[in-house]
Amino acid sequence: MTASLSAIPGFEHLSRIPLYVPGKPIQEVQRELGLSRIVKLASNENPWGPTEAVKARVAAVIAGSETEGLGLYPVSDGFYLRQRIAERKGLSADRVVLGNGSSEILEMVAKAAFLEGGDAVIPKHSFAIYGIATQTAGGRVIESRASATEIDVDDLLRAVTPETRLVYLGHPNNPTGIRLEKDAIERLVRTLREDIVLVMDQAYAEYEDPAEYPDTAAYLDERPNLLVLHTFSKIHALAALRIGYGLGSKELMGFLDRVRSPFNTNHLAQVAAEVAVQDLAFEAFSRARNTEARTAFVAEAAKHRCQFSGTSGNFILLETACPAADLFKQLLQRGVIVRPMQGYGLPNHIRVTFGKPEEMMAFWSAAGPLLDGGC
Ligand SMILES: Cc1ncc(COP(=O)(O)O)c(C=O)c1O
Repeated sequence: MTASLSAIPGFEHLSRIPLYVPGKPIQEVQRELGLSRIVKLASNENPWGPTEAVKARVAAVIAGSETEGLGLYPVSDGFYLRQRIAERKGLSADRVVLGNGSSEILEMVAKAAFLEGGDAVIPKHSFAIYGIATQTAGGRVIESRASATEIDVDDLLRAVTPETRLVYLGHPNNPTGIRLEKDAIERLVRTLREDIVLVMDQAYAEYEDPAEYPDTAAYLDERPNLLVLHTFSKIHALAALRIGYGLGSKELMGFLDRVRSPFNTNHLAQVAAEVAVQDLAFEAFSRARNTEARTAFVAEAAKHRCQFSGTSGNFILLETACPAADLFKQLLQRGVIVRPMQGYGLPNHIRVTFGKPEEMMAFWSAAGPLLDGGC
């Protein structure tokens, strides 16, 4: 007799949650299509790093010493990295939590908040993990209004119910590249009930002009329900090592620590991030290259009469005349990996990461004729 595992309470619920679809890895496209030269512009990685100093620090751990090496467990709570982050952010280290990528912190906060059920308000067209983390933790998703070009903060606040435990917002938002102005951020932070955790996901914040970006960390002392997330996967160019961090009140960190698994971040990631978080010059360099890439992209998009959404982050959401899934496949055949956005309710959009100039040239020489031809 074959018993169905979906008879296990909870498994049936899990089977209805959409799987996260990551950007297609280069090796997979090589294997499937037999192509040798492939450009990946699908996962918003930073093509310019990591720096030699980061690599040297990782190599020293691999070489091993009395205090560190691959055979030893990492510092369980990442104490030293938390201190470096705290110094940079002007907070105490007990207001910093680390995750195996900021995705893990998105899961940790959902696990904590939905222990006894409840719902999360998430704007339409947000990063897929917000919904997945909510549902796998037993929470219910309420989608508030947003378009490819606008996030409606008032609708987000209206969507809140007595059962709401979390509100997630990408700031800037992936995949639309939109960010809110300071007054909207302030309205959200200050109006939201204090028994709801506001998760401000600032994975791409470092790509914004620091003089203009309304960093929600400014409200951390005022709002104990605020969780501000950052990652080392984007501007710090450490996506392979999986490390991110959250900033919040000491009380909130205490709850997250109860759902965090011990040793959740590895030693290579901790030491690499310690070097990276102090390297402001590399951040400024990457930001400048990204701004150049964006300017060049927007000019090229105009030549091909392409519409695009917001201009924040290290990526752009491009509207297509043909189904994005078709354009995605045709670009793959030409050795260019982008991200089709049908899974985000945007069947006629692709998201393109800003790569190095030669990678963007490869994109336009493959995509230009297709877009001009009605795709
Ligand atoms: C908006 C947003 N938040 C969080 C993440 C997660 O990054 P990581 O888990 O690599 O830190 C991503 C990754 O693409 C993202 O786009």
